[in-house]
Amino acid sequence: MDKSNKRIVLVTGATGGLGTAMCKTLLKDGFKVVGNYITPEKAEKWTKQMNDEGFHIDLFKGDVSSYEDTGRMLKEIETKVGTIDTLVNNAGITRDGRLVNMKVEDWHAVINTNLNSVFNCTHQLLNGMIERKFGRIINISSVNGQRGQFGQTNYSAAKAGMHGFTKSLAMEVAKYGITVNTISPGYIGTDMVMAVPEKVLTQIVAQVPMGRLGGTHEVAHLVSFLASEETSFITGANYSINGGQHVY
Ligand code: CAA
Repeated sequence: MDKSNKRIVLVTGATGGLGTAMCKTLLKDGFKVVGNYITPEKAEKWTKQMNDEGFHIDLFKGDVSSYEDTGRMLKEIETKVGTIDTLVNNAGITRDGRLVNMKVEDWHAVINTNLNSVFNCTHQLLNGMIERKFGRIINISSVNGQRGQFGQTNYSAAKAGMHGFTKSLAMEVAKYGITVNTISPGYIGTDMVMAVPEKVLTQIVAQVPMGRLGGTHEVAHLVSFLASEETSFITGANYSINGGQHVY
């Protein structure tokens, strides 16, 4: 909680497309929001843009793929802002390519940033949440973790792994008032998705019954819903938000 008794939410990878929309929506919905970033130039531009739009969000630098740097950042946030009630594990990267061509570093980069980061952040916040008997952990996975995607063995493995983590941890911490859930967005109009070759993206959108990319605000509203006090009986769930691209 912060000094005015607002729940504090940490969004990792806050300066990306989804992270930005989450920060804005959570702030509008009455949370105290802090963001994490890794690239200083991007963070500087982001803060200026957000301030111009009337959103005041403190950003903290930290490499969530490193356990030590994550720990340092979390301590800084707790000292400067307060104890973190809700963690949104949103930071993620792609290094697409067929496995036959995949470089060892591209495998490790994706697993470290997308999956090990979930451990690094959650593990170091969990004791505090247990003591305070409240917590919301929201893991941002992907439709490609649910169904697989040509060219994404690393990404799909990491994203599927996130939901395995969610289900197991949900069972372990349910008795402490902590919920753990996954959100699996489909193709959303972010820079990450727009980097997919145009021809490939056109083919993908053609498989989406809604015939369009998702909006970042659509995912952000789901995050805010799961962060709320009222969702205290929802845990271990995986919310698909993909325009019907993958139904099961
Ligand atoms: N299914 C079957 N075959 C395919 C295919 C597919 N979807 N895509 C490509 N191929 C085939 C090609 O036809 C080609 O076959 P031939 O050699 O027989 O001609 C072969 O694979 C090689 O294709 P490329 O020349 O495209 O090879 P590449 O290795 O340079 O690139 C790729 C492959 C990187 C996967 C590229 O196609 C690509 O970027 N695909 C998009 C992957 C994607 O959807 N990423 C999502 C990013 S956004 C995100 O991750 C957010 C989220 O959560 C949704």
